[in-house]
Amino acid sequence: MDDLRLKYLGLIAGSADESALEEVRLAAIGKKGEVALAMRELGRMTPEERQVAGPALNALKDEITSAIAARKQALGDAALEERLRGEWLDVTLPGRRRGDGAGTIHPVSQVWEEVTAIFADMGFAVAEGPQVETDFYNFDALNIPSHHPARGEMDTFYMHRAAGDDRPPHVLRTHTSPVQIRTMQDQGAPLRIIAPGRVYRADYDQTHTPMFHQVEGLAIDKSISMANLKWVLEEFFTAYFGTTVKTRFRASHFPFTEPSAEVDIQCSWVDGQVRVGEGDGWLEVLGSGMVHPHVLRAGGVDPDQWQGFAFGMGIDRIAMLKYGIPDLRAFFDSDLRWLRHYGFSPLAVPTLHGGV
Ligand code: DAH
Repeated sequence: MDDLRLKYLGLIAGSADESALEEVRLAAIGKKGEVALAMRELGRMTPEERQVAGPALNALKDEITSAIAARKQALGDAALEERLRGEWLDVTLPGRRRGDGAGTIHPVSQVWEEVTAIFADMGFAVAEGPQVETDFYNFDALNIPSHHPARGEMDTFYMHRAAGDDRPPHVLRTHTSPVQIRTMQDQGAPLRIIAPGRVYRADYDQTHTPMFHQVEGLAIDKSISMANLKWVLEEFFTAYFGTTVKTRFRASHFPFTEPSAEVDIQCSWVDGQVRVGEGDGWLEVLGSGMVHPHVLRAGGVDPDQWQGFAFGMGIDRIAMLKYGIPDLRAFFDSDLRWLRHYGFSPLAVPTLHGGV
C-alpha cells in the first residue's frame, strides 16, 4: 500500500495538465483503478486483516482524491496567472498605426485650424458668408463699382442667369472680403472677426488654382489703428511659424481700405527653400488697411463713430510657406502619398490646435 501511495502521489505531482490528472485518477481510484482492485481483495482477507486494510485503503483513496483536487487547483491558478500575464495591457505603449488606406487631415484644414486658434487667442470670432455671392457684396459694398478695373482683374466666375432675367448675375466670391459687410450688417460695431473660407478665380498655374482659401480679418472699434493691425499680424506670424517674424508694410491700394498696405514677412532663401523669420529678404503675404468709410457705411456702421482695420491673406499660401510645398495644385489632387511626403501622416498631425 505504501508503494501505491508513493506511486500515485508522485504521478499526481508530475501531472502537467487536467487531462493527465484525469488519467492518473482513473488509474488509481477509477472503477478499474489499482486502489479499487485492492479493495476487491478485501473479500478474500481474514476479518483481522480486513480490519486493518479496509480503513487504510479508504484513507489512501481519500488522500489521492484530495491530492488530485489540490493539484487541479494549482494547475488552474497557474493557467489563470499565465493568461493574466499575457493579457496585461500596457497603457503607455504607443498607439497602433492605422492602415495604409487611412486618411489624414489635409494641410489646408490643418492650417485653417491653426490660424483660427491663434486669432481666437487674440479675441477674434469666426464669421462666415456664402460662396455664391451677389455682386453687391463681392464688389459694390466693398467700394468696387461696376466700372472699377478691380472687377476685371479678379477673373470672376459669373453664375448663369436665365434668359430675360436682367438682375445682375451672382458670382463665386473672388475673396472673403464680402464677409466684412455681412458681419457688420449682422452684428454692428464693435467687432473682431476672422472669416476663413473658399474663394474662386479663373486662374491656373503653379501658385494659382480656380478654388483656393483665404482668411479675412476685421476689427472695428472706437480707436483701432494701423498700430493694432501691425501688432496683431506680428503676433499671428510669430505664433504660426513658431519663430519671431518681422513684418514690412508697403503702401498700396485697395478700394476697400484707406490707407492700404501690403504686408511682407521677413525671410531668407536657402537652396531655393524659403525660411521665414530669418535673413533680410521679404515675401508678400497679405493685403490690409484701415476700412474705407464707404465700406463701413455699406455695412451699416457709422464711420464718424467707428474705425477699424481689415486684412486678407491666402491660407494655401501660408500653408505652402510653413510646410515647404512648392506647387499649390498638389493640394487639390487628393494624393495620400503626397500628403505623407509633406509629413501629414496620421501620426505626425498634431491634435486639434496642438500645433499652435
Ligand atoms: N480681398 C483682397 C484680395 O482678395 C485682399 C485684401 C486686401 C483683403 C486688403 C482686405 C484688405 O481685407 O484690407 O485680394
